[in-house]
Amino acid sequence: MIESTAQPSLGPQPLPVARRLPLVGSLPEVLFGPADYLINARRVNGDIYLLNMGVEKLVVLNHPRHIEHVFVSNSSNYRKSGALWDAMRTLLGNGLAVSQGETWERQRGLVRPQFRRDRLIGVVPLMVEAVENELERWVSLSEAAESVDVLPLLGELTMKLLVKTVFGTSMSHESIERIRPEIMYAIKYLVPAMLTNSLPSWVPRPGARRYALALRRIDEILFEVIDQRRRDEDGGDDLLSMLLNAGHGESGDAMSPRQLRDETLTLFLAGYETTSVSLAWAAHYLSQDAAIQERLYGEVSSVLEGSAPNFSDLNNLTYARNVMMESLRICPPIWWNPREAIEEDVIDGFKIPKGSNVAPLTYVVHHHPDFWVEPERFDPDRFSESQSSGRHRYAWHPFGVGPRKCIGTAFALMESQIVLAMILQRFKLGLVPGRTATKAMLGTLRPKNGVHVELRPRSGSGTAAAGN
Ligand code: HEM
Repeated sequence: MIESTAQPSLGPQPLPVARRLPLVGSLPEVLFGPADYLINARRVNGDIYLLNMGVEKLVVLNHPRHIEHVFVSNSSNYRKSGALWDAMRTLLGNGLAVSQGETWERQRGLVRPQFRRDRLIGVVPLMVEAVENELERWVSLSEAAESVDVLPLLGELTMKLLVKTVFGTSMSHESIERIRPEIMYAIKYLVPAMLTNSLPSWVPRPGARRYALALRRIDEILFEVIDQRRRDEDGGDDLLSMLLNAGHGESGDAMSPRQLRDETLTLFLAGYETTSVSLAWAAHYLSQDAAIQERLYGEVSSVLEGSAPNFSDLNNLTYARNVMMESLRICPPIWWNPREAIEEDVIDGFKIPKGSNVAPLTYVVHHHPDFWVEPERFDPDRFSESQSSGRHRYAWHPFGVGPRKCIGTAFALMESQIVLAMILQRFKLGLVPGRTATKAMLGTLRPKNGVHVELRPRSGSGTAAAGN
């Protein structure tokens, strides 16, 4: 193994080039089965190495101090650039996740305060209501089949929860049904858009016309909702109201309808896939370990005593939080977070040429044996206070770190605690033999072929809300 300790006295060293691995080590494995490949590659090549994939070279970074360097101490030297980000901009415009420079700074300043944990008290009842409605449907599904795939169910649940928390009651059921297929189409089209973006305008792009239509329809619905809300005096506690009011205070710099459209759509897309996938992984690991699941159920029963969760309960659902944090460690939905080096740099004593594509691998850092004992084991107690103390600050970073850290961190953790608690109040998640979820690393790290579990209703443990 090549040691990656800094050697400042010798000057920056050239990067070690990844060796071919005995079992894997070719482009198809990197692209289609990268989890084991990447873990092995770190073992063989060290914490930092150059991966030559023919078309593209990547500087692979696998250590928490690399995360600190790229996203915190030298973050101004690393930018989001490339075809994927360009394609995302056609959908999200100047939304927070894709904007840069002054626009990003201004927007981040306006949106961030709205996402502080204490500001989110008002969205908790909206979350609970959305989950309650959806779980009622799960009861009949559990009666109709031996096992169910909870991945699409959690996708639907998360989508409805986001609509409710972002738009409140302003988006009618009919508008939700109209906008949903358009958003789904737009998300699906992002990869082809990325591949065809640089072609001359006369080259036919399959699907481009349908994409343009999807964008027009999304705009139509969002502008309608935004317009109506701008006329309403009393908007409610949803995020759109918070965004409408943002900036009215100190700077008086309120957002334009176009910016509101970009930001609400961004929140929607940034929060949708990430939370639904991470909840699906949590359901998978809970179904695999009855002891962990029963301990969580014990906490939920004693804290909530059969009621729906409220904001202050969340502080007491500590094990639920640790289950979620462990899920996000073992399967971080955003498993890598690429950037481009604007100027030449030195990381860990190695030279990073200007223009390099660096690939910090959250997944590998989260499985690094120097920071995690038995990294493949699901163990929520890693996040207990006693076990967390002394761990490298960036050994766990599913929400990113530094100035561009996920704005929805508190929102996502609250949402996950609520969803897990409310599911466990109603169901026991049973293992389905032969249907263990496996990892697919595409845009996000999602369970290949879904998460199949037995949904066994908990006898006599109906919640106050569900039981009445
Ligand atoms: C488990 C759920 C989630 C995970 C794992 C996650 C993860 C991330 C990551 C890794 C980033 C990128 C940080 C970077 O570029 O360095 C990010 C950015 C972002 N996330 Fe999340 N996220 C989650 C949920 C949410 C939710 C629920 C929302 C909003 C409702 C949200 C809104 C955003 C936004 C707006 C950004 C862009 C921030 C910026 O560039 O300034 N995320 N998220």
